[in-house]
Amino acid sequence: MRSAVKKRISRRSFTEPLTQYETECINDMLKKANIESGLTMELLHDASGAFCSKKYTKGFIKNAGSAVLVKGPAELPDLKERCGYYGEAVVLDMVDMGLGTCWVAGTMDRDYFNIADGEMLICVILTGHVDEKCKVSEKTVRAMIRTRHKDASEMIESDTEIPADIMEGMKAVELAPSAVNRQNSMFIYSRGVLTAQVPDRYVLDRVDLGIAKRHFIETAGGTFDFGNGGMWHPEADHA
Ligand SMILES: Cc1cc2nc3c(=O)[nH]c(=O)nc-3n(C[C@H](O)[C@H](O)[C@H](O)COP(=O)(O)O)c2cc1C
Repeated sequence: MRSAVKKRISRRSFTEPLTQYETECINDMLKKANIESGLTMELLHDASGAFCSKKYTKGFIKNAGSAVLVKGPAELPDLKERCGYYGEAVVLDMVDMGLGTCWVAGTMDRDYFNIADGEMLICVILTGHVDEKCKVSEKTVRAMIRTRHKDASEMIESDTEIPADIMEGMKAVELAPSAVNRQNSMFIYSRGVLTAQVPDRYVLDRVDLGIAKRHFIETAGGTFDFGNGGMWHPEADHA
């Protein structure tokens, strides 16, 4: 399993800002991901204004600086799922760079961001330097949000024995971030075909679905079709 998948947890207390080199690397990643996905993700060097009031952050987030705006044309098919799928690819690359990250949809002042007409801001991803170990205050917030945890076997249903490569992919899905730690993505393995779906009752379910699919393919390879119930193609190149 990719080490970034194992290592990643949401980090909410930041220390030093990004260096110029790190900023350039992230901008490069976003450029490539935007070309492939049709999204318009963008790094905001100083997004602190959206995170400076406890009214919005609930005290969860400390010293936020840079953030990736995860957004795209409102009309883009599967917009939310693409945001999850490509946003999480950027998250894992930023974890490889030694940075802390946190997806944020709720605990921020959304009005702070200027979004072009015709575009929709789905989430942001905080990024920056963090202390190597989570301090007690950060651990407390994490424990408050993560009151339950599903393991891989609870996130897949099957009518036959599940192949080892699929179970390995599911272990990466177990480690994927999800809004309010809902872990709502469900994988179905039936007649040799794997699909992934969400109940689609919650506004961020489709983002979580994209993130779960990304964690799966980072580990088991292949590609996933977009869409609720989209199919896995194990033979395809790593996306
Ligand atoms: C789409 C999405 C939105 C999220 N929004 C917030 C948020 O508004 N505030 C926050 O503190 N964490 C937010 N999170 C982080 C989740 O709470 C976190 O991923 C989950 O509790 C699992 O913990 P982990 O990421 O440390 O594994 C969000 C995560 C996702 C995927």
